[in-house]
Amino acid sequence: MRISTAYEGALGDYFAGNATDGPYNAHTDRPAMLELAGDVTGLRVLDAGCGAGHYITELRARGAAEVVGVEGSARLLDHARDRVGDDPAVTLHHHDLEEPLAFLPDDSFDLGVVALVHHHLEARRELLAELHRVLRPGGTLLLSTVHPTADWIWHGGSYFDEDRVETRFGDSGATNSYRRMTMQTFLGELLDTGFALERLVEPRATEAARRVDEARYLKTHQTPFFVAVRMRKDAG
Ligand SMILES: C[S@@+](CC[C@H](N)C(=O)[O-])C[C@H]1O[C@@H](n2cnc3c(N)ncnc32)[C@H](O)[C@@H]1O
Repeated sequence: MRISTAYEGALGDYFAGNATDGPYNAHTDRPAMLELAGDVTGLRVLDAGCGAGHYITELRARGAAEVVGVEGSARLLDHARDRVGDDPAVTLHHHDLEEPLAFLPDDSFDLGVVALVHHHLEARRELLAELHRVLRPGGTLLLSTVHPTADWIWHGGSYFDEDRVETRFGDSGATNSYRRMTMQTFLGELLDTGFALERLVEPRATEAARRVDEARYLKTHQTPFFVAVRMRKDAG
């Protein structure tokens, strides 16, 4: 039976609020990924698992020419529509990322962004192949996920366990599941797809997180939380 991991209902609302100013999404993952993106002026961007649209509005504010958001949660798409407003350069699709991106043409994006999404999926290799297909030759993929060491600390067992783990979202009471994986698996799946690794970062919270939550800010400076990579599709 297919597990549904899209953040529906109360989890969607909780995430949308948290992603705005929370220490992990707003002040650890997103700044690192946007720094990895560099200059996005004039780029056509695909945001796979766009959530409440926080990346979309940032990318547009930084000059991206067009952003296509794909998201499995109807609730988060409502949040994304509210955040994006009537920007004609943004298109949103309701779609399960376990399925092919058949509605997107080959070689049509300069940049793909997959922030804290792909570990939820079982069809990760299929999604990576689809991202490779829709990026133009020489295009860039930015992908972030939970750091394998963080998972080992939180969930215990062997570092090499690659089981599905349940995660609780703060004090929301909501849970969801994802597949933990070793660094070798995480990078191996990307390299096997044909992407080349350009940069890897293990982000720590920015100073802005101190104001929000000093304890969590300090924690991200002692324990890895996320890992983010910048990958390149061969120019051909
Ligand atoms: C941690 S959130 C990240 C959202 C956004 N990328 C960001 O960083 O603000 C994970 C996102 O993946 C989406 N998601 C999880 N499983 C999905 C699936 N099978 N298909 C499409 N989206 C999915 C969730 O609904 C949620 O929006």
